[in-house]
Amino acid sequence: MKRIAAALAAVAALSAQAQSAPFAIAIHGGAGNFTRADVPAETEKQRLAVLSDSLEAGRRILAAGGSSLDAVVAAVRILEDSPHFNAGRGSVFTAEGTNEMDASIMEGSHRRAGAVAGVTTVKNPITAARAVMEKSRHVMLSGRGADAFAKEQGLEIVDPSHFRTQERWDQLQRAKERAGTPLDHDAPKAGAGKKTSALAADEKYGTVGAVALDKSGNLAAATSTGGITNKRYGRVGDSPVIGAGTWAENESVAVSMTGTGEMILRSAT
Ligand code: GLY
Repeated sequence: MKRIAAALAAVAALSAQAQSAPFAIAIHGGAGNFTRADVPAETEKQRLAVLSDSLEAGRRILAAGGSSLDAVVAAVRILEDSPHFNAGRGSVFTAEGTNEMDASIMEGSHRRAGAVAGVTTVKNPITAARAVMEKSRHVMLSGRGADAFAKEQGLEIVDPSHFRTQERWDQLQRAKERAGTPLDHDAPKAGAGKKTSALAADEKYGTVGAVALDKSGNLAAATSTGGITNKRYGRVGDSPVIGAGTWAENESVAVSMTGTGEMILRSAT
């Protein structure tokens, strides 16, 4: 009887420890050089509300003892479902007038990872990246193959028109008029002395992502993006590249990048 009591006490102690174990989550909704003054108050309010929902969705999972993987996916899905961020529903347009999305995920305990590039029909690309990690022998799938895999896995598939928003369409037209390929994260820097693609204030959005630490000490990171406006030739940025857009390793760090993919890739950030 004494032994059972001791075992129960040990379980209770472990469970109390688990309850109080630290956890953490951080999200991002895109880096841009814009200031508050560039963003209409109503838009800012809407974006902040979505960011808050995203953070809270991840926090709830972690507080209840859920995994960092579940937390980052929940957080990123909410950002992907909003037209206000350049990922999923709010993705920017390619030069051909399509939406091609990239996403990746990594967990830090065994460094398992999954990614998709150039998907056009998966409602939440981050769920496709997770399926690649958990249900395939591969780390990255691209294009039609990635879309087909997501469908096979029973993920939610939508008509490409789901990703067409007027705001992003107008953004593409302005980009074409300027005959450039503006980077979504570039803002004109007065006096910077270098040629950057000029973006109007309402065009500056970026990648989304989340990193989390769960109560078991496991890290995870997730990143999702529509890429850059007016991108061409099947361009793929850093976001689906493990070690560039996303990284998680329990012994060190979890990272989800935002910024200009070409620069991030070239510097092995
Ligand atoms: N960092 C997102 C991209 O450049 O595609």
